[in-house]
Amino acid sequence: AVYEAYRKRLRIRGTQRRLPQALIIGVRKCGTRALLEMLNLHPHIQKNGMEMHFFDEDERYANGLEWYRKKMPYSFDNQVTIEKTPSYFISREAPARIRAMNATIKLLLIVREPATRVVSDYAQIMETKLRKGKQVAPFHKRILTADGEINDGFKAIQISQYAVHVLRWLREFPREQIHIINGDNLIRDPYAEINKVQQFLRLPPYITPDNFYFNETKGFYCMRNETFQKCLADAKGRPHPYVDPAVMSQLRKFFVPFNEQFYEMVGHNFGWPT
Ligand code: A3P
Repeated sequence: AVYEAYRKRLRIRGTQRRLPQALIIGVRKCGTRALLEMLNLHPHIQKNGMEMHFFDEDERYANGLEWYRKKMPYSFDNQVTIEKTPSYFISREAPARIRAMNATIKLLLIVREPATRVVSDYAQIMETKLRKGKQVAPFHKRILTADGEINDGFKAIQISQYAVHVLRWLREFPREQIHIINGDNLIRDPYAEINKVQQFLRLPPYITPDNFYFNETKGFYCMRNETFQKCLADAKGRPHPYVDPAVMSQLRKFFVPFNEQFYEMVGHNFGWPT
């Protein structure tokens, strides 16, 4: 109740809660948080900070669209509400459910070199397990079977098979409605990637290179505008564990056919190492 009152007090006249007109659908560990926070620098963007899991969890979806809308932030009618839930990307149900809400919604998909994404995912899983006092198998044990093959039963490996998942989205949405962000590039040159997104969303070019500065301590770009500056939390940009180069190269080879299919489906060659 206190939280509700707090939220009500923040309501500005002329605003209302709206269903999202754009969604960040994934991919987990590819820079989804950075993308959302950077876009939120734009005055015409209103982010929903929480991952709602509305379209991928049956119990939530059963609450209906009105329930979902009421979870969204207040916005002006010239603003785009954006929600991000990275697991939408791998969900069987999400694409059709999203189309049923709004067949013209704009979808944002951020990808990263698939093997690096697996290491990043592993680093997060490892951190969570260690925090709970659990044992963690070394990287090669998680990604290889006893026979030394890539273990495609490991969820982190499945998530990086982008072609498998993107196919489901392309069955429901025309290619032009999905903008793909290069997550490795977002790390190196955030403005270049964000500028393409503001164009895709047909927003005036309010985000400029001045909104980003490299923070040596963080080792990543951080954000600023006239009134604030911020870096992402420590959990974003974790150190990756050392991985034997031979294992890394085996993992990269495993993804080659998936990557080639992905390039073909989306009409763009990301040039990931083979
Ligand atoms: P690592 O922790 O592997 O470095 P997500 O938000 O989807 O979980 O993605 C996390 C990843 O966002 C991080 O993975 C990090 O590399 C990336 N990232 C991109 N831009 C970043 C930024 N400016 N600050 C911190 N992390 C950023």
